[in-house]
Amino acid sequence: MATYVSWLLFITLTFSLLLCWSGASESDEKTYIVYMGDHPNGGFSASSHHTSMLEQAMGSSKASKSLLYSYKRSFNGFVARLTEEEMKKIASMKEVVSVFPNGKMQLHTTRSWDFMGFSQKVKRSPTVESDIIIGMLDTGVWPESESFNDNGLGLPPSKWNGTCQSSSNFTCNNKIIGAHYYRVAGSFPPGDIPSPRDSEGHGTHTTSTVAGRVVKNASLFDLGAGTARGGVPSTRIAVYKICWSDGCYAADTLAAFDDAIADGVDIISISVGWPFAQDYFKDPISIGAFHSMKNGILTSNSAGNAGPSAGSIVNVSPWSLSVAASTIDRKFVTDVKLGSNKVYEGVAVNTFILNQSMYPVVWAGNVPNTKEGVDGSLSRYCFNNSLDPTLVKDKIVLCDQLIDGQEPLDAGAIGTIMQDSRPMDVAYLFPLSASYLGQTDGAAVYLYINKTSKPTAIIEKSIAKKDILAPFVVSFSSRGPNPITTDILKPDLTAPGVNIVAAWSEATTVTGIPGDKRVVPYNIISGTSMSCPHASGTAAYVKSFHPTWSPAAIKSAIMTTAFPMSSKKNPEAEFAYGSGHLNPVKAANPGLVYDAGETDYVQFLCGQGYSNQSLQLLTGSNTTICTASNNGTVWDLNYPSFALSGLANTAVTRVFHRTVTNVGSPVSTYNATVVPPPGLTVKIEPGILSFNAVGQTQKFVLNVSGVINGNVLSGSLVWDDGVYQVRSPIIASALS
Ligand SMILES: *[C@@H]1O[C@H](CO)[C@@H](O)[C@H](O)[C@H]1NC(C)=O
Ligand SMILES: *[C@@H]1O[C@H](CO)[C@@H](O)[C@H](O)[C@H]1NC(C)=O
Ligand SMILES: *[C@@H]1O[C@H](CO)[C@@H](O)[C@H](O)[C@H]1NC(C)=O
Ligand SMILES: *[C@@H]1O[C@H](CO)[C@@H](O)[C@H](O)[C@H]1NC(C)=O
Ligand SMILES: *[C@@H]1O[C@H](CO)[C@@H](O)[C@H](O)[C@H]1NC(C)=O
Ligand SMILES: *[C@@H]1O[C@H](CO)[C@@H](O)[C@H](O)[C@H]1NC(C)=O
Ligand SMILES: *[C@@H]1O[C@H](CO)[C@@H](O)[C@H](O)[C@H]1NC(C)=O
Ligand SMILES: *[C@@H]1O[C@H](CO)[C@@H](O)[C@H](O)[C@H]1NC(C)=O
Ligand SMILES: *[C@@H]1O[C@H](CO)[C@@H](O)[C@H](O)[C@H]1NC(C)=O
Ligand SMILES: *[C@@H]1O[C@H](CO)[C@@H](O)[C@H](O)[C@H]1NC(C)=O
Ligand SMILES: *[C@@H]1O[C@H](CO)[C@@H](O)[C@H](O)[C@H]1NC(C)=O
Repeated sequence: MATYVSWLLFITLTFSLLLCWSGASESDEKTYIVYMGDHPNGGFSASSHHTSMLEQAMGSSKASKSLLYSYKRSFNGFVARLTEEEMKKIASMKEVVSVFPNGKMQLHTTRSWDFMGFSQKVKRSPTVESDIIIGMLDTGVWPESESFNDNGLGLPPSKWNGTCQSSSNFTCNNKIIGAHYYRVAGSFPPGDIPSPRDSEGHGTHTTSTVAGRVVKNASLFDLGAGTARGGVPSTRIAVYKICWSDGCYAADTLAAFDDAIADGVDIISISVGWPFAQDYFKDPISIGAFHSMKNGILTSNSAGNAGPSAGSIVNVSPWSLSVAASTIDRKFVTDVKLGSNKVYEGVAVNTFILNQSMYPVVWAGNVPNTKEGVDGSLSRYCFNNSLDPTLVKDKIVLCDQLIDGQEPLDAGAIGTIMQDSRPMDVAYLFPLSASYLGQTDGAAVYLYINKTSKPTAIIEKSIAKKDILAPFVVSFSSRGPNPITTDILKPDLTAPGVNIVAAWSEATTVTGIPGDKRVVPYNIISGTSMSCPHASGTAAYVKSFHPTWSPAAIKSAIMTTAFPMSSKKNPEAEFAYGSGHLNPVKAANPGLVYDAGETDYVQFLCGQGYSNQSLQLLTGSNTTICTASNNGTVWDLNYPSFALSGLANTAVTRVFHRTVTNVGSPVSTYNATVVPPPGLTVKIEPGILSFNAVGQTQKFVLNVSGVINGNVLSGSLVWDDGVYQVRSPIIASALS
């Protein structure tokens, strides 16, 4: 629910941002981010260079006042207040890669580990694990949570180069070793705490999912009771608070990346994104992830909550991991019982136990707030101020829309039943007793109210049930195809993101909605925000066994060991789940990896038409970057999945060059098993790869040809040596 509401809200904000932007007169200043690529080496004073650039654009009197922030620890750039004309002058300077407004991103709002076969007993490397530092770019944390106790953890690893900003009695320990908050431009929203302390809940939840300690008997009022734990309970946490009650700003996000990289984190987890995918170098997450990659740090990000429409995916840079959200085998159901004794099973996480056995039930369309000029055609949807408090007090209200529960609560209702056409695959939280019935059962409840003289109902407390359909990718999870580079498959994979139990902030309530009084240490929420930290924790787990692996190698290990998903449950197939479902245990031992580094990504960017000048700034190199021999096609980027697109009913041939590195048995022979996408021919050369040492590489060529007659034609390549199965999807899609 929160996801839908914030999504609508965000679209409104984005449009208004664009409107005032295009309408800006010369005197109108806006905050811009000027991105300048790699950090220049040696004796370079970033701020004075940035000031002198501003002086060139606007004269010296204004320049120093206009500079708000300099990025200088891990890459080069700054934030400044500029008119449109000044912005254009700066954008044309040769040392500038891109300039973009300081727009606002949104949050992509535990049994889940056991569900993947990642039990508490899995093999671990605790001493190495405790040297791993996870950088969390989010809403901060609630440091007092039991999930962040530092029992048994020694001093931070010596490589740690960060600080703890202990404002508002926030203190670090040997678990949370660093904390910082960012508000580069503008003032803090009213009510927010200028501190790394989390007053939203989201950051506490994601952080404990990645790295929370083992806490027994955690639950939300006994719902989802069990042992709460992160994927890597011994790792250290560095907190970078970039999100406030009004959103997550681009300038703050980049500042956090700038610090996290120089502070020495090993993995970055960020469950935040734009409403639409952006160009790689106008997106702070993609820029930050690029510099992280250069420094050996994998960035794991959420795919977005804008599904199921095609092309809704965000955070698509090939150097980061993009994670979709799927269900686990537990669902929360909430029964609605009518005075007729009929019982309907709805979905919701309902913690309330009502005192009476039955309450009067009314249809919202019959109780409009006529004093406010509202009639039944509006009040049936339970919009703000649409219900007449005298007619709903202590009653249960049937609303013809899935809402957040605020209006029935404000109007004095005791509970709400909702009917809508939205999918019933997520149990949302409400500030009062509530259940969501969908359309058919909702219509039955309506009919009962209509035909009964004194209709009554009761909403039961939720119970957990086994979900036999799991896992499937949930409707809200953003789908491919990748809007920026069609032939890089995104999302990369899926992980649990539905009804996840994890730690919560005690500076807020279960829903954060005014009137909700439930302050809790653990909460149950959903989103790709929740799936991303499962992948981040797995990346740290892999790194604890292979500390020297590159971000691409870790990412490859996670993708090629994912277990295959079925297009029967998700017709969008790989556009919903990428390589498949996260499998943390197997990810630690992939057999082969598709490795890649900065040079590979730069070749890819050359082929995508980025300028020599931009790429020189990115790499910090003076040489001509994009030559004919260094002009990588998208199909040749050493990616662990294969994607091709072409006009429908037209013959295409795509040739993929790949290199795999042996990280399994020293002496091994892998056979290729290819399942071609329907209607296409796949040739692989060679079909057998032999290795005699760990670290040895072998090349192969995959040639896919034929006519693409469909939107999602799925195939696969598996390299198998009898011990390891290294699986990649091959997906073909017709361009419309
Ligand atoms: C200090 O932290 C506690 C939570 O442990 C909080 O209730 C209190 O308001 C904080 N004090 C200040 C000054 O922020
Ligand atoms: C678990 O916690 C609940 C309260 O949340 C309590 O009622 C129950 O006794 C606890 N169980 C155990 C085994 O500690
Ligand atoms: C640690 O941070 C300082 C201050 O930003 C920086 O000068 C130094 O290079 C960093 N050290 C490492 C190892 O990154
Ligand atoms: C149930 O009854 C108790 C005790 O009378 C009261 O405090 C509480 O508010 C009631 N709860 C509801 C949901 O009406
Ligand atoms: C309804 O009111 C609440 C505050 O009472 C506000 O946060 C929310 O945005 C409003 N919703 C709509 C759709 O206006
Ligand atoms: C029942 O539905 C009919 C037809 O729509 C309507 O005229 C009538 O007012 C409804 N009665 C109640 C109690 O909602
Ligand atoms: C980069 O420079 C080389 C050599 O001057 C040139 O051939 C190539 O077209 C340039 N590439 C781009 C993308 O400008
Ligand atoms: C680039 O070239 C300039 C002038 O030729 C030289 O001063 C500078 O050190 C070079 N930078 C790098 C990173 O090679
Ligand atoms: C690189 O490839 C792109 C797209 O295929 C093409 O437009 C460009 O001219 C090529 N550049 C060079 C230097 O070959
Ligand atoms: C790929 O296969 C097609 C169709 O069989 C063939 O025409 C083409 O020459 C092949 N290309 C390569 C590089 O093997
Ligand atoms: C690979 O293929 C060879 C020859 O067809 C066969 O002997 C061998 O058993 C295969 N190995 C595996 C792991 O399938």
